Amino acid sequence: MPDAVHDAFQRPLASLRLSVTDRCNLRCRYCMPEDEYVWLPRASILTFEELDRVVRVFSTLGVRKVRLTGGEPLLRHDLPALVRMIARIPQIEDLALTTNGLLLAKQAAALRAAGLQRVTVSLDTLRPERMLAFAKSARHGDVLAGIRAARDAGFEHVKLNSVVIRGFNDDELGDLVEFGRAEGAELRFIEYMDVGGATHWSMDQVVSQRDMLEALTRRYGPIAPVAQTGGDARAPAERFRLPDGTTFGIIASVTAPFCRTCDRSRVTADGTWFLCLYAGRGVDLRAPLRGGASDDDLAALIRATWQGRTDRGAEARLGVADRGALYRIDSLRADPHREMHTRGG
Ligand code: GTP
Ligand code: 5AD
Ligand code: SF4
Repeated sequence: MPDAVHDAFQRPLASLRLSVTDRCNLRCRYCMPEDEYVWLPRASILTFEELDRVVRVFSTLGVRKVRLTGGEPLLRHDLPALVRMIARIPQIEDLALTTNGLLLAKQAAALRAAGLQRVTVSLDTLRPERMLAFAKSARHGDVLAGIRAARDAGFEHVKLNSVVIRGFNDDELGDLVEFGRAEGAELRFIEYMDVGGATHWSMDQVVSQRDMLEALTRRYGPIAPVAQTGGDARAPAERFRLPDGTTFGIIASVTAPFCRTCDRSRVTADGTWFLCLYAGRGVDLRAPLRGGASDDDLAALIRATWQGRTDRGAEARLGVADRGALYRIDSLRADPHREMHTRGG
């Protein structure tokens, strides 16, 4: 097998996020706050066979980790079938899913049986009425049921993602930690990012990693960083330990971006490959895929593109004066690939 491909900053191509649909059954304010959206055309959505082929080609260039995302990936019909296909690819050592949990109770056992290794569920609040206001959904109970079903299905290291927003859920950090401890799941608090889709973003709503640590220290006492090794060293979350041993993570993409070690890229449901979460443009893999390109042709395109990669989107945003939302709504409508729900977080 050829060596892993590295980009212009010596970052390997190691982790792939595969968005399997741009549809979502929630309308979280930090991701889909608008009333109407432009969707990817149905005929452009890659089939499972095409997605499997994409992952196979990436796996020959160094990809070892695959994370299925959306929109909401469990809206894609028969996702376990895709999991089964990807789980068979020998180079893929880690196959994970990020979901909002609404449909997880129904599907957790089948996903596990198909070979899915890890699950992360978004849980921004423990209060159903807050979820109703914030994500336009009354199905908070389904999310909790999904988290339990994941554990019951045998997923060991379930993670819970909370995007922390000032004035919305920043008073719930400790309660979320308690919930995670009771459920055997690890909380990861995420700084509210100015990604595409976050059209209402402003800096004053961001609760920084520092503020989060201060709030948790007030409640629990001194917090110690957990040393990160191996694959963890490239993960976006920094992990911490409370005095009682409970661990949690913080993803500080706004105040302390991890671009320097970023080994990830993402493919949208229509086969557009983005080298950075913040990239304005992607690389069209669907046209060659459907136009008769061989696996070697695809691999050559991916290799050459990655070797020229200089993206460090989140770091670049640090230097923007008067930082506001990344895109205005008209720009997102003109190209829905810019939406976070299209490129999969
Ligand atoms: P593991 O490390 O494999 O457990 O997963 P993950 O943390 O990469 O996946 P998850 O889907 O849980 O992502 C968590 C959050 O990290 C996302 O919601 C984003 O806010 C942030 N994130 C994910 N990918 C990127 C990225 O490429 N760049 C930046 N800046 N942030 C990212
Ligand atoms: N800031 C931070 N995280 C976000 N996500 C979606 N939009 C944003 C944003 N503006 C997260 C979701 C989920 C992951 C896939 O992306 O909460 O955990
Ligand atoms: Fe990687 Fe771009 Fe995210 Fe930085 S902003 S961590 S380069 S995807």
